[in-house]
Amino acid sequence: MVQDRDRFLPTGTYAPIREVGARLTADAVSEQGTVVDVGCGTGYYLAGVLDQLPGVRGLGLDTSVRALRLAARAHDRAAAVAWDVFRPFPLADEAADVVLDVFAPRNPAEFRRVLRPTGRLIVVRPTGRHLAELRGQVPAMVTIDPAKEQRLDRALNPFFEVAVTEQVEYRASLTKLDALNLVAMTPSARHVSRADLNDSSVLPDQVTVSVLATAYQPR
Ligand SMILES: C[S@@+](CC[C@H](N)C(=O)[O-])C[C@H]1O[C@@H](n2cnc3c(N)ncnc32)[C@H](O)[C@@H]1O
Repeated sequence: MVQDRDRFLPTGTYAPIREVGARLTADAVSEQGTVVDVGCGTGYYLAGVLDQLPGVRGLGLDTSVRALRLAARAHDRAAAVAWDVFRPFPLADEAADVVLDVFAPRNPAEFRRVLRPTGRLIVVRPTGRHLAELRGQVPAMVTIDPAKEQRLDRALNPFFEVAVTEQVEYRASLTKLDALNLVAMTPSARHVSRADLNDSSVLPDQVTVSVLATAYQPR
């Protein structure tokens, strides 16, 4: 999964998601601030943020050692630590300007504890239309729970209120290899084998990318 993510993300197909993450972060971070990317994977989004913000330092947390090896090298102002998001974070209270969470698990109480009162939590998650063409063609792919937004709201509401939400939605072209990597980097990967996808007619050459990116302010 990590390798597939590392092959797919540099194609630039998700660059608009990276850009919105960097823009929302830039609005909230101080000049020498700290950004914590929770479930950072290969560090693609954290590196995108740090590229735009010269004085800012980044810390990626993830449980995957393979992903962390890549995240630690993703940017010279990034560090990466093996950490389970459901444990108390290895950070002092109010140490972070921004907590970034892109397609990753969440720990709202810890997000609130480590954020400065003026900081922002940025959560990027898929809408029901995300990768719909792939989900239509590959039945074993996990569907997106329609109640996901309500659950997110319930979980974050005691700690955060919405400052701004942006929707990012576009159609993207895919080569067969891109499509294979994209399926393999989703949580569906464990239900789908590459052999199932070998018939190239199964894979669409265009997909809808559709996510919501919300910046939350601490209550
Ligand atoms: C769908 S991937 C997203 C990775 C990255 N944010 C991106 O979008 O490229 C989810 C990430 O969360 C990590 N993860 C899953 N459970 C975790 C946990 N309990 N604590 C920390 N990271 C976790 C996975 O290892 C994976 O890198």
